[in-house]
Amino acid sequence: MKNILTAPFIEEMKRTTANMYRLGWDERNGGNISYLIEESEAEPYLDLSRVIRTIPLGFDASPVSGKLFLVTGTGKYFKNVEHDPEGNLGLVRVSADGQSAELLWGFSDGGKFTSEFPAHLMSHIARLAVDPENRVVMHTHPTYTLAMNYIYELDEKKMTHTLWEMCTECIVVFPDGVGVLPWMLCGTNEIGEATAEKMKEFRVVIWGMHGVYGAGKTMDETFGLIETVEKAAQIYVLTAHLPRINTIQDDQLKTLAEAFGVNYRKDFLNL
Ligand code: 13P
Ligand code: ZN
Repeated sequence: MKNILTAPFIEEMKRTTANMYRLGWDERNGGNISYLIEESEAEPYLDLSRVIRTIPLGFDASPVSGKLFLVTGTGKYFKNVEHDPEGNLGLVRVSADGQSAELLWGFSDGGKFTSEFPAHLMSHIARLAVDPENRVVMHTHPTYTLAMNYIYELDEKKMTHTLWEMCTECIVVFPDGVGVLPWMLCGTNEIGEATAEKMKEFRVVIWGMHGVYGAGKTMDETFGLIETVEKAAQIYVLTAHLPRINTIQDDQLKTLAEAFGVNYRKDFLNL
């Protein structure tokens, strides 16, 4: 058996959480990530028949029964993942009846998966239905996206349009726009269900005055998606109080989307 601490999926999780911490997005225990791992990726490192303990999920996750997820722990700090992956991460398998998670590795101090795991699994289920290659769900508290929430209407069309105007590449990176939820209590099945509903349409969902959810095929793609939204929000917040002299026009956004061949939300432009 190879040492799991050398597994590429652990390395990726360590690098990503460290990056996000250093960007200032994940203060204290803020943020959580779940990463769908193929059995064939985990097998060289783990005896998959050995379950350490079983943890109830609190909802029916049977559409992803048998699937493995590497997930951050509740109350754990992103800044500590790289130094102690086994204490801060867990590799779990959703049980055959979809009611619980079987811990195969990690959470070594007796901890458990993030309080947002229902929202993650519901989002995985929603994204897998539209993109069978989706593997990552990421929740974080990016500073400028959050700042924008306080000075801008929580409206999907308006917010997407403004973000698209902020950087030339935005419409290419998130042509589907951003979904927006009002402030809701986190860590509940209700916010999980509302997020998953949005995830049918959007790969980025803003949780009003809390943070953002992103989904994608790879860790890089998902991180890059949130990073691009955050960059756009940063430009917005840095310029919101100043007279706007120039902007990218809607016909230019259309030209961009057509040149890059992306399927964008045409109803989010005013043409
Ligand atoms: P956890 O510590 O349970 O992952 O919660 C962090 C968070 O960001 C809640 O939304
Ligand atoms: Zn949060």
